[in-house]
Amino acid sequence: MARGEGAGTDGDEPVERRIAALREELNHHIYLYYTKDSPEISDEEYDELYVELVGLEGENPELISGDSPTQRVGAPPSEGFEPVEHALPMLSLANARTAEEMLAWEKRIRTHLEREGVDPGPISYVTEPKIDGLAISLTYEDGRLVRAATRGDGRVGEDVTRNIETIAGLPKEIADAPPLLEVRGEVYLPLEAFAELNERRVTEGEAAFANPRNAAAGSIRQLDPKIAAERPLAVWAYGIGATDGISFDSHSDEIEWLRAAGFPVNPDIAGNGTIEEVLERCEWWRDRRDDLDFEIDGVVVKVDSLALWEALGAAGWEPRWAIAWKFPPSTATTLLREVDWNVGRTGHLVPWALLEPVRVGGVTVSTATLHNEEDLARKDVRAGDEVIVLRAGDVIPQVVSAVTSDRPKGRRRPKPPANCPACGTETVKPEDSVFTICPNHRGCPGQAFQHLKHFVHRGAMDIEGLGEKQVKRLLDEGMIADVADIYTLEKDRLAELSGMGELSASNLVAEIERSKEVPFPRVLFALGLPGVGAVTAEALAEEFGDIDAIREADPEEVERTEGVGPVMAQQINESLADGKTWEIIERLKGYGLKLRLEEGERRAEGGPLEGVTVVLTGTLPDLSRDEAAALVKAAGGKVTGSVSKKTDFLVAGDNTGSKLSKAESLGVPVLDREGLDRLLAGDRAPGD
Ligand code: IVH
Repeated sequence: MARGEGAGTDGDEPVERRIAALREELNHHIYLYYTKDSPEISDEEYDELYVELVGLEGENPELISGDSPTQRVGAPPSEGFEPVEHALPMLSLANARTAEEMLAWEKRIRTHLEREGVDPGPISYVTEPKIDGLAISLTYEDGRLVRAATRGDGRVGEDVTRNIETIAGLPKEIADAPPLLEVRGEVYLPLEAFAELNERRVTEGEAAFANPRNAAAGSIRQLDPKIAAERPLAVWAYGIGATDGISFDSHSDEIEWLRAAGFPVNPDIAGNGTIEEVLERCEWWRDRRDDLDFEIDGVVVKVDSLALWEALGAAGWEPRWAIAWKFPPSTATTLLREVDWNVGRTGHLVPWALLEPVRVGGVTVSTATLHNEEDLARKDVRAGDEVIVLRAGDVIPQVVSAVTSDRPKGRRRPKPPANCPACGTETVKPEDSVFTICPNHRGCPGQAFQHLKHFVHRGAMDIEGLGEKQVKRLLDEGMIADVADIYTLEKDRLAELSGMGELSASNLVAEIERSKEVPFPRVLFALGLPGVGAVTAEALAEEFGDIDAIREADPEEVERTEGVGPVMAQQINESLADGKTWEIIERLKGYGLKLRLEEGERRAEGGPLEGVTVVLTGTLPDLSRDEAAALVKAAGGKVTGSVSKKTDFLVAGDNTGSKLSKAESLGVPVLDREGLDRLLAGDRAPGD
């Protein structure tokens, strides 16, 4: 760890020097974490320094000063955003890591209340996931979202209203609202979107984000709202701040109210009664952690009664009425033994860290990704270094950074190998790529293996019974060489493989047959074109309708698809132009895979609504939302989820929400059911 050198002057007492050094060091890491969104040390190491400082200040209260990190939370607002003073400070949470610490917390609550002369009786608690994102304050005046602010230093945050407005699923307007309502919550990036964003960044030659939290923070703190809008951020609301004209008795009432008002509230927030029940719930969350599509780093436990909140108050920046039960840290420090290189499915040589095994987030990790050469160089990670390893949900463990302060001389920067580790072909480094590649695309068994593995995996063709091991086996046996060969596998031949048996063989054949029903966007994703993740595959399918149209499009046309940049567009174009690749796709078509959208999924070409973008809201009398969308698409129109300046029409049924008011404020024409019919019939001015 890059410990500070000690900021005190020579005349200081050692304890004063240590306090000054700790403050300087913590402030540096706070800056890296909050302002740069790029931490250099693990949360655990940060906590260690922080706890040491709290201890020293506790013993020497005369040395506490306003600039100590213990006296504020987070970082002051940065330039570029307007400062927003919070009506009520945005506090932070005390941590507990064990059941004993939780029970001690309840005991402290009781002692405090006793001292205040309050008899709470049995205390009831609410448990909530602790979302690992970015705290946000949302102010609604007369039901309209007027301001969104980050936490900043707890007193003053940054005005990020324009970026928050881009978040789908966050009400911009609420019905029956009081004059003033401040909603608090956490902005986060769902894991799939995070993986996709990083994949795209790497393809486009940008550095990957270290984790979803940093990606969310980096997106919200973009000065250009267009960039924020391209990232599918989401929000969970978890409480209410300042209000006027409304009040609540309990936190669970607040949560219920938020839910009813249409805010995204996590469905698993629960009132769990006693502290023992809360502990069970904490375990429940821990076991589910890896199944969630967002990252959590613990459970927040809150006293339910707001009268008790009042009586308990806060100690410094930490309320006494809540605590964070933290999971085992998802970062750890360990030795990097070696940097190894793997060939990826498109021939990229990907650097891997071989680690001294270490426990991270409850599992033992011995390998981690280093993303790409550029990232490796930026992080300056070398064999022999102590490194910080991070495990984020289901995402592959990654090396975040190296401790460089006490690195001895002579450790070399790792270099990509001159020959492919899988096939020995001489590697090349294209000028415009962050990767060195193995150019032996069709003959390299390493690339074939990765490609097959990707094709069959859960998010792609989802062929159960054809995991990594079986793919390797079939490759070694010479039974398959590319993805199309999967559809030639026969039951009898499979059953002859040792360990396979009749039943597994016929199950596998049935699974392969079933995969022919996988819809086009997922088949497109499974094909593994460079940089094309699940979300981009969906967008390409929607834009072009079938694989031939994508192939025939020139890179400029491909680039018009959401999420596709110039580099990726070029690569998609080149890879579909490749004769061997196209031959495989033609074979897949022949085996009956879906390489075009079905009727109904498809936007008709030359239809009356070509070039028209429609948003649907509310309930229509005789059509479901999906049915209405299918009709619009069949007429050649495009259906999107949120109203913007690009929306041509909003079709509104009953029980509409914020989309209607947004459309009205932007002057987007609003149609009822009859208006939709007129539009479908080709009347482009179907208003009254
Ligand atoms: S309550 C004073 N509830 O955790 C209470 N916070 O240190 C603080 N967080 O960044 C807010 N999930 O944004 C609360 N269900 C939840 C939360 C939550 C995540 C974040 C919060 C802040 C940090 C608190």
